Amino acid sequence: MKPKVYLTHPLLPGAMDYLEKHVNKTVGPSDGPGREELIRGVRDSEGLLSLLTVPVDAAVMDASPRLRIIANCAVGYNNIDIEAARERGILVTNTPGVLTDTTADLTWALIMAVARLIPQADRFTREGRFRGWALDLFLGREITGQCLGIVGMGRIGKAVAERAKAFRMKTVYFDPHRLDPEDEKTLNASWRPLDDVVWEADVLTLHTTLSAETKHLLNAERLAKMNRTAIVINVSRGPIVDEKALADALADGRIWGAGLDVYEREPAIEKILLSLDNVVLLPHIGSATEATRLRMSMMAAENLVAGLSGQTPPNLIP
Ligand code: GLV
Repeated sequence: MKPKVYLTHPLLPGAMDYLEKHVNKTVGPSDGPGREELIRGVRDSEGLLSLLTVPVDAAVMDASPRLRIIANCAVGYNNIDIEAARERGILVTNTPGVLTDTTADLTWALIMAVARLIPQADRFTREGRFRGWALDLFLGREITGQCLGIVGMGRIGKAVAERAKAFRMKTVYFDPHRLDPEDEKTLNASWRPLDDVVWEADVLTLHTTLSAETKHLLNAERLAKMNRTAIVINVSRGPIVDEKALADALADGRIWGAGLDVYEREPAIEKILLSLDNVVLLPHIGSATEATRLRMSMMAAENLVAGLSGQTPPNLIP
């Protein structure tokens, strides 16, 4: 008999076909289950496949004494209470690697969009306001040759640094685990203490995981240390930035601009940000290409099936 699993959302079609063959699945609505519905759905399930928007805590896990694996379809897994899973012997998996380049690409799209005022210029052109070339039209900021500060030098941070070489940038980074000298050389990146990275960066980009230590890592105090010409980019997790403090800094012109793909209380967005022109706002689409989202869906499905068949899933969170 196929094991019973609950999918909080439908996955992309290829992954649904794969699951069809291996499990007996119940699927939540396309906009995801509410908490009651989630708990009802998990009841009697041996596996749970979740998206990053679904909080999976002890109460959800306890809805099914048979639950053996939670496969998260995301690289981040801060939505899952890992400790509670560990205590219950439930495996947890994620989808690392397959979204690295896609997310690094989007980081650069945001850097360029902010620095070169792309959304504003696009609006201006559509509104029929382009009357011809002008010397002072949409004067943005240089990126080539500037200083890039990266916080969190994991897979995505490294892929961002790799791309910075083409822009002949000076890259400084902070990560509690310093890279070995060979990697630093390859990436043309120098380690600095966190506050120095914040202080030195013309473009500060965040690629760390969310934890108690990284919550509000970019706070009012650190924002106050940044250059007035600096740009902040966040494609990691919203709560790493104190969103209100960032909005105030942008509103007061204390930094030059920001590009955000994630928010502190997603999908809610700090109201001030919505009225500002010096911030580009995206709806958490860092990994959103057809190919990558299909790879993530397949990876989550394969992790789930492997765990349920007694194998060690390829992307087990230790
Ligand atoms: C996206 O934010 C992810 O963690 O995969």
